[in-house]
Amino acid sequence: MDFKLTEEQLMIQQAARDFAQTELLPGVIERDEHSKFPADAVKKMGELGFLGMMVDPKYGGAGLDSVSYVLAMEEIAKVDASAAVVMSVNNSLVCAGMEKYCSEEQKQKYLVPLASGEVIGAFCLSEPEAGSDATSQKTTAVDMGDHYLLNGTKNWITNGSTASTYLVIAHTHPEKGHKGINAFIVEKGWAGFEIGPKEKKMGIRGSDTHSLMFTDVKVPKENRIGEDGFGFAFAMNVLNGGRIGIASQALGIAQGAYELALKYAKERKAFKTEIINHQAIAFKLADMAVNITAARMLCMKAASEKDNGEDISISGAMAKLFASQTAMDTTVEAVQIHGGNGYVSEYHVERMMRDAKITQIYEGTSEIQKIVISRGIAK
Ligand code: CAA
Ligand code: FAD
Repeated sequence: MDFKLTEEQLMIQQAARDFAQTELLPGVIERDEHSKFPADAVKKMGELGFLGMMVDPKYGGAGLDSVSYVLAMEEIAKVDASAAVVMSVNNSLVCAGMEKYCSEEQKQKYLVPLASGEVIGAFCLSEPEAGSDATSQKTTAVDMGDHYLLNGTKNWITNGSTASTYLVIAHTHPEKGHKGINAFIVEKGWAGFEIGPKEKKMGIRGSDTHSLMFTDVKVPKENRIGEDGFGFAFAMNVLNGGRIGIASQALGIAQGAYELALKYAKERKAFKTEIINHQAIAFKLADMAVNITAARMLCMKAASEKDNGEDISISGAMAKLFASQTAMDTTVEAVQIHGGNGYVSEYHVERMMRDAKITQIYEGTSEIQKIVISRGIAK
């Protein structure tokens, strides 16, 4: 692995860092407090190319590599993890899945506006009774000749109300298990498609998470992605890449909390010295630095393997498993280093601690990452 970033990668990193400082930092506490979607910032992210980073420019994307994507995700998540998840879903679940597996017509109609940030998308797999156990989903799409009739409920969908385009996974032949699943492109506003109320969450409160209800929604035949029965493979393959996005989000949260904790430890005095001079505090910072560096290496390894066209099911899961644990450990200790100040919103680290937790849950819980890794290494 070549650890040296190219000029272009360094430029993307700096652009994302500048954007996060000028557009996301102001108002991040208030957006968290009021669960407010960062609409203006997301629009600007689209204009800057951050919503279709890896998509070919001929489909409206920025045509960058996955390493650049990791660098940008880290910078955005360092400041605002809610904006980062909007970015991650649009880039690595919606756009990447469409670019790789959709027909030319589907790409022209749906991918171009998504990759250019004109609209945003959502990825709809989880259901009230089928999260980790994704093949047990109950949503059905019945073949009616020229269209499918879609019925069911999807749960906890990121960008649930703000998206325009939804990738919905449903059973077409439940008796065939995971081989009877298909993925469909569904538009907001189609008859029978309802959006439930916004979830009240522990963290990433700026992102909008909703249930989606489908009652006899007519989905044109041409909106099915790939061959009949390809839906579960589609979801799994897309999630392999998505996990690099969430790993980078976790890395950014950890790095953000670490930087704040280090600064605070150098300034805050107790017992006539800066608290960094107390070994108990210095060792926490040392642990953070080691784990963050290791998490970054795992993210970069998975991203560079993706850029080389390799199988990233194991490396993506490893990156997400380790980076999300690092985000959790680092933010808890960052609050501790801040003492009482760590417990109030003004100092940011309590929000980061709440934001960190979701990275161990979505796009496959940590337990599911261990299943993916252990099955992979057993093969
Ligand atoms: N990559 C490619 N293919 C995979 C795969 C992977 N990582 N994991 C499984 N598969 C394939 C298997 O090879 C198998 O295919 P074949 O039969 O053709 O060989 C098929 O999928 C079924 O595999 P299993 O028998 O292992 O299936 P399972 O039911 O035992 O469990 C699972 C599979 C890995 C647990 C899977 O259900 C899973 O990943 N669950 C987690 C779901 C998830 O991550 N949801 C995230 C929703 S999106 C989201 O959360 C977005 C957000 O928050 C922002
Ligand atoms: P369950 O599957 O019920 O798991 C409960 C517990 O049991 C977990 O600890 C789990 O690890 C453990 N467990 C389950 N099976 C096993 C096993 N075999 N071995 C060991 N332990 C196991 N989904 C989408 O499709 N699209 C989205 O955009 C999206 N965004 C989300 C945003 C937020 C804020 C949240 C909270 C969730 C989102 N999700 C989304 C759903 C998310 O992917 C699921 O919550 C997650 O996959 C876990 O599923 P579950 O909640 O049903 O938990």
